[in-house]
Amino acid sequence: MNKNIDKCKSIVEKDKEIYAQAGKLPYFPLAVKKGQGAIIEDADGNQYIDMLASAAMLNTGHCHPKIVEAITNQAKDFVHYIYPYVYHEPLVELAKQIIDITPGNFEKRIIFGLTGSDANDGMIKFARAYTGRSKIISFIGSYHGSTYGAISLSALNLNMRRKIGPLLPEIHHIHYPDCYRCRFEKKECNCNLECINELENAFKYYLAPEEVAAILIEPIAGDAGFIVPPKKYMDKLYSICKENGILFVVDEVQQGFGRTGEWFGIDNFNIEPDMVVLGKSIASGMPMSAIVARKEIMESLDAPAHTFTGTANPISCKAAIATLQVIREEKLIERSKTLGEYMKSRFREMQKKYEIIGDVRGVGMTIGVDLVKDRTTKERDANAAAKICYSAWENGVLVTFVSSNVLRIQPPLVINKEQIDISLDIIEEAIKSYLNNEISDEVLEISKGW
Ligand SMILES: Cc1ncc(COP(=O)(O)O)c(C=O)c1O
Repeated sequence: MNKNIDKCKSIVEKDKEIYAQAGKLPYFPLAVKKGQGAIIEDADGNQYIDMLASAAMLNTGHCHPKIVEAITNQAKDFVHYIYPYVYHEPLVELAKQIIDITPGNFEKRIIFGLTGSDANDGMIKFARAYTGRSKIISFIGSYHGSTYGAISLSALNLNMRRKIGPLLPEIHHIHYPDCYRCRFEKKECNCNLECINELENAFKYYLAPEEVAAILIEPIAGDAGFIVPPKKYMDKLYSICKENGILFVVDEVQQGFGRTGEWFGIDNFNIEPDMVVLGKSIASGMPMSAIVARKEIMESLDAPAHTFTGTANPISCKAAIATLQVIREEKLIERSKTLGEYMKSRFREMQKKYEIIGDVRGVGMTIGVDLVKDRTTKERDANAAAKICYSAWENGVLVTFVSSNVLRIQPPLVINKEQIDISLDIIEEAIKSYLNNEISDEVLEISKGW
């Protein structure tokens, strides 16, 4: 590597001495100093094209002028006042707009929080209170956050769950419908949704459906490896929920706000969920989360069942209002669809050349590139993912991986075609370097990721 990263390295060293490493998932020694659009600059002045968007938190890109303006203007008026005690206009204006764009042609209510994790905790509370039932079903491989409730819902990494038990009781996990690694070795042509039997069997033998409050699903699995469920699975799951009085809840924290070429991931399926969990890109990087649900569900809890001092921060509210405006004005949803398709087609061209790319999948600008040791066994190539991402970073592209081996392609939706082309060329070069054994094993000590 010929670039200077001395300042970044010294920041990393200081971090290791003071920050609890339970909160770190490093991929490369990057200390961010600035960002503009889809470009990041590190503490040493090196620039990178951002294919991660702060883990899908920056759909409008870095420092969008309209969002920066909204933030600075509001900061001059007032920075915060405990919302549970008072009211303010930025919140009511934002709340109405979010209710209007979330799916569901019924009367809704919204409540805010600070991070996707607390919204998922709130979801459990509302679901249990409304239904009077205790059990919640979520999916293996999912990540729903790091608070106790959200960890209990998650099932992707034992380190999250070790040593901290007991977790929240009555949360059960089933497999996400994964057509690439179908557990029944079916193809689209002979699939009879064998995977839904797991839920039906659970209901028959050990999980009384009338005790299940909610099923929580990501409409496109994120950290499980960007898996797109078949539409017929989603339809069936939805009808099972309806037949059994179970709430159908979607976690849109990662896929919301235009990321999948629709306002929300679930809009790709024409399903009206009972409850929607929001976060990340809602306020373009300012801390904010929300739960939107049918009015009667949200009226099932009494105050102060879900309050936070820092909730509904007016700066975050103004940032969120500006975010919605930018998404509309710059047609970021359409852009996500067309440029997302373009990226997928370019990765599929690469797939023809490199056996290591087992699958390319995704919707809009949520794309997963599944790296395998062998296309028949589909064995995950975790070292390849770590080394390719590291090499891409050395050459000016920020790309990471999830599920040990799946390249995470989730750039800011404002990225342009030229930036995409440069990034994909650099990723392709990194793949070649990996295949030529040019990336040292030392990288594996640094690039840990998920
Ligand atoms: C689908 C999903 N839900 C919830 C969360 C948790 O959000 P936060 O990290 O803002 O608490 C994440 C974070 O990655 C996520 O991807």
